[in-house]
Amino acid sequence: MPRFDAKTFLEKQIVATREALGREKALIAVSGGVDSTVSAAITHRAIGSNLSCIFIDDNFMRLGEPEMVKQLLSSPPLELPVNVLDARGRFMAALKGLRDAEEKRRTFRDTFYKVLGDAAKLEKCKYLVQGTIKADIEETTAGVKTQHNILEQIGINPVEKYGYRIVEPLVALYKWQVREVARIIGMPSELSERQPFPGPGLSVRVVGEVTPEKLDEEKMATVIAEEYLAPLKPSQFFAAIFGPAPTHDDKSIAVEVSENLSLSSAEADILFEKATGVVGGKRTYGDVVLLDLGGAKPAHGKLQEMRKELQGDHPNITRVLVKVGTRQGAGYRVSLRAIKTRDFLTAEVVDVPWKTLEQVAEKILEKCPKVSSVYYDVTPKPPATIEFE
Ligand code: XMP
Repeated sequence: MPRFDAKTFLEKQIVATREALGREKALIAVSGGVDSTVSAAITHRAIGSNLSCIFIDDNFMRLGEPEMVKQLLSSPPLELPVNVLDARGRFMAALKGLRDAEEKRRTFRDTFYKVLGDAAKLEKCKYLVQGTIKADIEETTAGVKTQHNILEQIGINPVEKYGYRIVEPLVALYKWQVREVARIIGMPSELSERQPFPGPGLSVRVVGEVTPEKLDEEKMATVIAEEYLAPLKPSQFFAAIFGPAPTHDDKSIAVEVSENLSLSSAEADILFEKATGVVGGKRTYGDVVLLDLGGAKPAHGKLQEMRKELQGDHPNITRVLVKVGTRQGAGYRVSLRAIKTRDFLTAEVVDVPWKTLEQVAEKILEKCPKVSSVYYDVTPKPPATIEFE
């Protein structure tokens, strides 16, 4: 494979973007993620003040994110002209009552492009620039999931449906290549090395129905999970929320504990909510299992053996979550995720020490009054996806 030359790519792409856009005005929705920021930087160098950048506050960002992103993007070396658009009400209204992962994603995508379409009309922009990368296309065309930024690849004509043409400067690159371009541009490491954040934001981490209360608890759990897991430098790490628990729809399954795992007992429940997974290269909506090891703290290798056994016995299971903290009473369940990957198409689970897991759990239970238990997701991709939905 030829070496990737980020500097040459950058120079060529500035010229190509200038040619594609001519004297037209263009709009880009920036999220603070490395893909949209690099796309905005390239386009800004290509067409200067004909580019408008908007940050859509959809209410599914992390706490304080809109302010932080605006500040970083407006400052040198990027100096992008960013406006924050408050669309929180529109997104919450659109998602109200929806439970199914793909329906939530489709609705999010539709709302996103309608909001963007309104902004493009207002700004008189015919073009929309997007930070779509190669993995987004590969996963969507393979049927793994509806990436929210893919339109033409799934047969939606953006001109007819939303009123603008799309330009995607990074569509030939993988994430690690985008990061190399970001470093060449001189982007601060808070941006260039930032872990990916899905387009539909925390909506894919509030598993099942989104309510304001569940979302608030997810936002607080996210702050805590990121703070404690960041020092381990996973490729991606976050919290997701399920619930409320216990629901009468959960059902127990028998678990056989192999002798060599030296566990005295283990209990497993299949959760009412399902989560996405990828089996044989295709997206599935599989069962989530909650595993209670009764206080045992097996090493990472043993946990992985146990997970494999469980999934071997119950092929519908695409997630195995191990309990790390709990308190009395019913409440939401939070799951922690920390994975290592280069291309985000496959991923390994990070061996987070039990001590760290317990510290995160304790802090989440302290700061999130409606959460009653905390789990660690020990499933690699495949068969799980990185996100829960
Ligand atoms: P999955 O969950 O498919 O995630 O294993 C792979 C990577 O993609 C991110 N992700 C998204 N990014 N729009 C995006 O821009 C999306 O709709 C989307 N869904 C997932 C995810 O965070 C992970 O890094």
